Amino acid sequence: MNAGILGTGHYVPERVLTNKDLEKMVDTSDEWIQTRTGIVERRIAPDDIDTSDMAYYAAVQAMEEAEVKSEDIDMILVATVTPDMGFPSVACQIQERLGAFNASAMDLSAACAGFMYGMVTAKQFIESQTYKNILVVGVEKLSKITNWEDRNTSVLFGDGAGAAVLGPVSKDRGILSFELGADGTGIPHLHQDGDYIYMNGREVFKFAVRQMGESALNVVEKINLTKDDVDYLIPHQANIRIMEAAREKLDIPVEKMSKSVHKYGNTSAASIAIALSEDVKEGKIKKDELIVLVGFGGGLTWGAVALRW
Ligand code: ACO
Repeated sequence: MNAGILGTGHYVPERVLTNKDLEKMVDTSDEWIQTRTGIVERRIAPDDIDTSDMAYYAAVQAMEEAEVKSEDIDMILVATVTPDMGFPSVACQIQERLGAFNASAMDLSAACAGFMYGMVTAKQFIESQTYKNILVVGVEKLSKITNWEDRNTSVLFGDGAGAAVLGPVSKDRGILSFELGADGTGIPHLHQDGDYIYMNGREVFKFAVRQMGESALNVVEKINLTKDDVDYLIPHQANIRIMEAAREKLDIPVEKMSKSVHKYGNTSAASIAIALSEDVKEGKIKKDELIVLVGFGGGLTWGAVALRW
């Protein structure tokens, strides 16, 4: 038996912050942001919607799609670097709100690769037959740790949540292979400095372009397939140029790559989860297709999954 996705959900706040709005806040331009990143606008959560609220909304949708009841969730994993507070975890907060009292619950911190780390952790518990249904959420309220006076970072990020319920599926589908990695020597390039995100964009860019392509290819080769077998690519929505590099490495046509960076910016741990949920709802992912999900982030961390839908 393999671990597979039984249902997906996502939530993004209503408030839209456009590049034009940012022109009034920092020394930047819509043209610069679009050509360097592909981002046109992003969503920003208001004060009364915190990380756990967004996680909850996405989780409810995923559980509905999966047709799994609260009491049947065995574990909740929430990937985030922007929890409501140091403790308790967002996972415990949503466990209470969902009434999922049979579930163990914890957060995990792997920045933008968090949803990949969450999925792979869930896979271990499911395939060892320890747990059956696991709720994995990727969620961020990055606006809380964004310095709105720093043009190097403020133009990149957005808020949102994505979720998936994972459970047992047959051996020929679900998560077929994965790769996870970390390199703590990259901490100087991307970390939280005091209240805000610090980023050396050029260094992160170089790392991301190399790692996204490599990891995407590795998970395909691990199951003795080639890039020609990949039907759909869901890269972390950080920057269109980084996503394009991964797409070119896999030789996939443009319409076979998930793209929502233009409307949500980089939502870190939420990005792949939101993209997956939207693609499912828009019918972009078809039964039996081979999907590659790949992300990278602060840590530095990275992760990829090859999944038969
Ligand atoms: N508007 C206008 N000019 C800007 C802006 C802006 N918003 N931001 C930076 N610039 C300037 C810089 O100051 C620099 O000026 P200088 O040459 O006078 O010093 C100039 O633009 C060019 O900067 P570059 O670094 O060459 O621009 P680059 O093409 O590398 O693009 C970017 C910058 C978009 C940040 C890119 O490096 C990138 O995407 N990096 C990866 C970011 C990323 O994905 N981070 C993941 C973080 S996720 C997480 O874990 C939370």
